[in-house]
Amino acid sequence: MAEGSVAEVKQSLAAVGYLADEPAALVSFLAQKLGKPVLVEGPAGVGKTELAKALSRASGRELVRLQCYEGLDEAKAMYEWNYRKQLLRIQAGGEAGWEDVQDDIFSTDFLLERPLMQAIASREPVVLLIDEIDKTDQEFEAMLLELLSDFQITIPELGRIEATTMPIVVLTSNDSRELTEALKRRCLYLWLDYPELEREMEIVRLHTPEISETLARKLVEVIRMVRGLDLKKPPSIAESIDWARTLLLLGAEDIDRETFTQSMSIIVKHRTDIDLVAERVGVKLAEPSSPAAG
Ligand SMILES: Nc1ncnc2c1ncn2[C@@H]1O[C@H](COP(=O)(O)OP(=O)(O)O)[C@@H](O)[C@H]1O
Ligand SMILES: [Mg+2]
Repeated sequence: MAEGSVAEVKQSLAAVGYLADEPAALVSFLAQKLGKPVLVEGPAGVGKTELAKALSRASGRELVRLQCYEGLDEAKAMYEWNYRKQLLRIQAGGEAGWEDVQDDIFSTDFLLERPLMQAIASREPVVLLIDEIDKTDQEFEAMLLELLSDFQITIPELGRIEATTMPIVVLTSNDSRELTEALKRRCLYLWLDYPELEREMEIVRLHTPEISETLARKLVEVIRMVRGLDLKKPPSIAESIDWARTLLLLGAEDIDRETFTQSMSIIVKHRTDIDLVAERVGVKLAEPSSPAAG
């Protein structure tokens, strides 16, 4: 991917199956030109993770992914010493004595590289995806800041490891908590939201080419109507795609009341949401089965 313009970036993303809107294409272009990390925020299922994967496919760079979770620490994100291997080496001892052993066990051979280290140490430029950063705590964010501004990691026993190639870094957040200003300042920012009708239709048809244009349009219209209700979890692009596949499997040519009732659990997944949608659309749901009384 050696694009000279935003339009070319958009095209190369489309060529690998990602339909970017203008802001997403612009930020992807700038990320490569400015060498800055991109922070992508937005609700679940709108294509945040997929953008990073698409950038990797389009650029031919390997994708290095750090999936964040509560309690994620440096040892799992950056590197840790392989204690087992170190212990075995110590037990094996050596003719030359302890000093040799010590040199040995704190060399890269005894290091377990985690995603951040892998991305920095890689000889080929990579796409580094730090997925769902909002699941970690502020302490972890602070640790990342250093890495994101200098692209280097310091290991006390080994010294500084600097990136020899510039990774494209994509951080995603489901917006479950405010990220620190310090982090935002270092990143280009992209807010991804539910797409416009026409683009969502294109995305659905890209993932399920067998669906007719009429049915795809109807599907996206219904999805948008459902999104307008005050739901706990509104359906995302992921649900639109799943629903399109389901409708094809059911052989549905239209979304009539019966089809809707039959398949609505694909797009709404909370009991209270299901009730709300059913009420609004006027469909009768089967009562949850309970042990027959009397
Ligand atoms: N712009 C897009 N072009 C093509 N497919 C998309 C696009 N946006 C989302 N998708 C599809 O929607 C689904 C959900 O996207 P994902 O990246 O997992 O969402 P998020 O990370 O925001 O929760 C994936 O199957 C992805 O391929
Ligand atoms: Mg994701």
